[in-house]
Amino acid sequence: MRLLAPATVDPSLSFTPHCLTTFQHHLHEGERFADANLIDLFDSYPRDSIEVMTMGAKLSDGEWRRGALGRLRGRDVLEAITRGHLWVNIKHVHENDARLGELVDESYSEIAEAIGEPVPRWKAATLLVSSPSAFVYYHADAVPNFLWHIRGLKRVWVYPAHDERYCPAPLVEDICTGHAPEGLPYEPVFDDGASRLDLEPGMAASWPLHAPHRVDNLEGLNVSLSTEHVTPGSRRSLHVMRGNRVLRRKLGVVPKSMRPDGVRASFKAGLGTFEHAMTKLFRKRATAFEWPMTFRVDPNEPRGFSDSMPGSGDDEKARE
Ligand SMILES: [Fe+2]
Repeated sequence: MRLLAPATVDPSLSFTPHCLTTFQHHLHEGERFADANLIDLFDSYPRDSIEVMTMGAKLSDGEWRRGALGRLRGRDVLEAITRGHLWVNIKHVHENDARLGELVDESYSEIAEAIGEPVPRWKAATLLVSSPSAFVYYHADAVPNFLWHIRGLKRVWVYPAHDERYCPAPLVEDICTGHAPEGLPYEPVFDDGASRLDLEPGMAASWPLHAPHRVDNLEGLNVSLSTEHVTPGSRRSLHVMRGNRVLRRKLGVVPKSMRPDGVRASFKAGLGTFEHAMTKLFRKRATAFEWPMTFRVDPNEPRGFSDSMPGSGDDEKARE
C-alpha cells in the first residue's frame, strides 16, 4: 500500500523547503500506532532513547523540564501521557525499530518520486507521543523537517523565516551551529504574522527552513512522526550561517543577508566550511544542551508525573 497521496503533493514541496506546504499520507491507517502497539514500543524500546519532557501551563512559562520513566510498564507510560501534561520523544526510530525505519524510507521514496528530487542521504525520525494539553515552545530548527500527523488534533503556528522581527539573526546562527538551544524569545503579537495550520490524522506539513514555529495540541492523545533530513541546499545554508557567525562574532562585521545563493554567500559558505573544519580538527565541540532531570513519570498523578527526583527513595518504590 502506498503511504503518500501523491495527488495532494503541492509542486512547491521540496526537501529544502521554502514555503509552508501540507500533503496527505496514510501512516495513520490500520493499527500501526494503536494503543497496543505504542505500549509494545514503550516496553521494548531502549529507555535511554526515550526523552520525556513537560512544559509550563502556558507559553510564557518558558522552560522545558526533563523527566525519568524508570522501569514503568508501557501501559503506565501511555496512561500517564494520555491523562497528564507530557511530551515524549521516541528518538532514532529509523534506526531502532525496523518497522518504523521501513515506513520512513518508503515515505521518503514516495515524496522523492512525487517531487522529482533525490532522497536525502541523511535522514532521521522521532515518534512524538504527547498529552492533549501539551505544547511546544516557540523555536527554530537547524535542518528541514516534515511533521506527519497520526492521532489527535494539533495546531502548528509558523512564522516568517529569516525575519529579524520574529527571530534575531545572531540567535538563528547560534541555533544552527549548535551554540544555543532551539528556543526563541516569543511575544504574543508575533501571532498576527503567523500562518496557522490545524493538523488532523493523515495530514503532513513542511515549512520553510529555519522558520520559527510552535505547536499546540488541541484534542486527544497526539501521535506524530517528525522526520528531519539534510540536503545539499540545507547544508549550504548551514555553512552560510557558520560564515555569518564568524563575520559577526570574530571579525566584527554585521552580515546583511542569510541568502544561500550568490557570490557573497559562496564566500560565507567557504568561511563557514573552514571554521567547521577547524572546530572539528581541534575538537572544540559546541555545547550539548540538556535539561536537568527533575521529575518522574507517574500515571497516578494528575499531570502524569511527580516532582520527586529520580534516584530518590520514592523513585525506587515506583520501579517495584
Ligand atoms: Fe521544530
